[in-house]
Amino acid sequence: MIRTTILGLGSYVPERIVTNDEIPFLNDQHERCDEQQTETNDAWIRTRTGIEQRHYVDNDKDVRTSDLGVEAAKAALADAGLEAKDIDCIILGTLSPDIHFPGTAVFVQSKLGIDGERGCACYDIRQQCSGFVYGLEMADAFIRTGKYEKILLIGAEVHSHSLDYSTRGRDVMVLFGDGAGAMILGKEESDDERSGVIYTSAGADGSGAMNLYLKVFDIGKRPYVWYDANDREQNEIKYPQMNGKRVFLQAVRNMVVSTNEALAKTGLTWDDIDWFVPHQANLRINEAVAEYAEIPRDKCLNSIMWYGNTTAATVPLTIDHWRREGKVKKGDLICSTVFGAGFTWGTAIFRL
Ligand code: ACO
Repeated sequence: MIRTTILGLGSYVPERIVTNDEIPFLNDQHERCDEQQTETNDAWIRTRTGIEQRHYVDNDKDVRTSDLGVEAAKAALADAGLEAKDIDCIILGTLSPDIHFPGTAVFVQSKLGIDGERGCACYDIRQQCSGFVYGLEMADAFIRTGKYEKILLIGAEVHSHSLDYSTRGRDVMVLFGDGAGAMILGKEESDDERSGVIYTSAGADGSGAMNLYLKVFDIGKRPYVWYDANDREQNEIKYPQMNGKRVFLQAVRNMVVSTNEALAKTGLTWDDIDWFVPHQANLRINEAVAEYAEIPRDKCLNSIMWYGNTTAATVPLTIDHWRREGKVKKGDLICSTVFGAGFTWGTAIFRL
């Protein structure tokens, strides 16, 4: 039977590193100032979130989410030994699209030089931090049904341009970083139920939607972009808003349930699985998930310390980080559970 196999993996983060010590000194253009701009500090960020630094794109250049996605895609294509022209479908997850429409996948396609009259299918998906697992579920279904044969799956984000660099926005601002990850998925003929993509699940609870959101515009209003950029109260619409405690609790609960369900449905145990790679929103969330789901600590891989929360990119970025460190190897069995705005969540079990 046709199964989905992982042909390549790659990731990219911009060069600029912003440490927790630098964060309080950034102005609204995320430029470093001599005077402190925001009341926050390394100890608070480190203790509450586990984050030590994050990467930002430069603010004096014209870099968009698609550019980060292209870099990750090129790395994944090289890893797979393929060229961009071999790809017959692109699926891209982001909450920071280049522009409102068209979606960001078409910009990636064009920048990879595979646009034109016979250009491949391009999907954008809007599942925020759950984007990568949702995308993997979609790619797996496409490949198993024979619809596409080589899919480029990307999670990419430029968060740094849309954060509120003031004390008002500090709870959200300190969490996020820029980055991208990509995976190339292909087909194989195999009856081995433990090869390639073994399991995916995706869930959502729309009643949680307004616990974590970024409006930018409201199509129910006229004018639908109604903020006055010079008015501090009104311009809140530009920035992500979050009920942190609710998100935290729901993340732990849903990630535990989703992970346990994945094991029950596949019959796998933590003896079979090499690595647990959760979404990287907060180290304390991941530690709580590991505790409640009884996941061996030496199997939990995190990278939030160095990259912050890169939303749709965290899963491939974390796997690729630990592969470069020599920990994760080709053929390892990975269980990945995500949770994000929506609320949305999901789990995937796959052999790298
Ligand atoms: N620096 C210093 N102080 C801060 C900061 C900051 N960056 N942010 C908030 N505080 C203050 C608050 O104002 C509050 O002060 P007060 O006691 O004087 O009122 C105090 O710290 C405690 O604030 P809490 O919100 O109670 O802190 P909490 O322990 O809940 O941690 C946090 C906040 C880290 C945001 C936590 O709620 C969290 O991680 N929630 C999940 C958020 C998340 O993961 N979001 C993204 C995931 S989903 C996705 O990726 C789409």
